[in-house]
Amino acid sequence: MPHLFDPFTLKGSTLRNRIAVSPMCMYSAEEGVANDWHAVHLAGLARGGAGLVTVEATAVTPEGRITPGCLGLWNDEQAQALAPMVQAIKAAGAVPGIQIGHAGRKASANRPWEGDDHIPDGDPRGWTTIAPSAIAFGKNLPRTPRAMTLEDIARVQQGFVDAAIRARDVGFEWLMLHFAHGYLAQEFLYRGSNTRNDQYGGSAENRARFLLETIEAVRAVWPEDRPLIARLGVIEFDGHDEQDVSEAIALLKQAKEKGLDLVDVSMGFSTPEAQIPWGNGTLVAPYAARVRAETGLPVATSWNIRTAENADALIREGKIDLAMIGRPMLADPHWAYDAAKKLGVEKPSWVLPAPYAHWLARYA
Ligand SMILES: Cc1cc2nc3c(=O)[nH]c(=O)nc-3n(C[C@H](O)[C@H](O)[C@H](O)COP(=O)(O)O)c2cc1C
Repeated sequence: MPHLFDPFTLKGSTLRNRIAVSPMCMYSAEEGVANDWHAVHLAGLARGGAGLVTVEATAVTPEGRITPGCLGLWNDEQAQALAPMVQAIKAAGAVPGIQIGHAGRKASANRPWEGDDHIPDGDPRGWTTIAPSAIAFGKNLPRTPRAMTLEDIARVQQGFVDAAIRARDVGFEWLMLHFAHGYLAQEFLYRGSNTRNDQYGGSAENRARFLLETIEAVRAVWPEDRPLIARLGVIEFDGHDEQDVSEAIALLKQAKEKGLDLVDVSMGFSTPEAQIPWGNGTLVAPYAARVRAETGLPVATSWNIRTAENADALIREGKIDLAMIGRPMLADPHWAYDAAKKLGVEKPSWVLPAPYAHWLARYA
């Protein structure tokens, strides 16, 4: 079985190890355009030794941003701002990936440290939100979205395609579709947020349609040799766990047929009523292992993979293929170096680039 520091090849792309930087919103863009903050943040993480660096949730249309500070990829200026960051990630030896998505009814929110709630109606910083049905999330996100017309659905799907083309043309190698965390795609899938009575609502098959059509449309423009992956919330902890997981697995089997290369197994966050067992160690990993076994797709996962030993064990036991590391990377962008030391990798400092590695080899 491979271990954390074995390379991982998917399609024509090889990661130097099985450590991936999980996508993390920085809420620091203006008009969806990346700036110096993103440049330093992303290059720093790539220099820290991870195999894959995934750029944060990037909106495919303006109303698809979570907050006014979120990145976008609905115009060429936004793509051009990301181009040098793609090069910096590659120059540091990591593979550049990006997550594209639409926030649906959770859009038009304040930054987490400015309230994490919906921008009030009438405030010029906010905008009208859209979703499969006119049902609000509730709690801190009370705004009722406008139910999408078929034209809206086609426009957003075209947004995914156009964003994929821009990501392709500036050199991203991995493309992650954001189908998780209670945002638009997950809203189509989840029974409680989708009460449509057309072909996009009702049966599990209909609720999966938006996601499967989007995969198919994006795959048509995303190069065959570059991985197309999706982050999907397969578990909600909403009291219907078996139904949620088995519907997700059925969807993923079809997604595989349509060209999905890997699934990043996550949580749904579709309802504020969810009872998430936060204290439960690596809380999503068991579901990732089940998805891997039942779909035959390679899987990644995140959530509470705190230590190198944790991540390594999940890979050695064949439960996951890739460890997505989020908050620990914010705490220590050189997490991979620390992991290499802890796991007894030979010459651990050489996980880092030479200007760091040379000195650390004799120091720590
Ligand atoms: C600051 C921050 C921003 C995040 N932004 C995103 C995002 O853009 N897309 C996404 O799918 N998940 C996002 N997440 C979730 C992380 O990618 C990751 O799945 C989660 O933090 C669990 O991993 P961890 O326990 O290693 O932090 C974010 C998490 C944090 C802490």
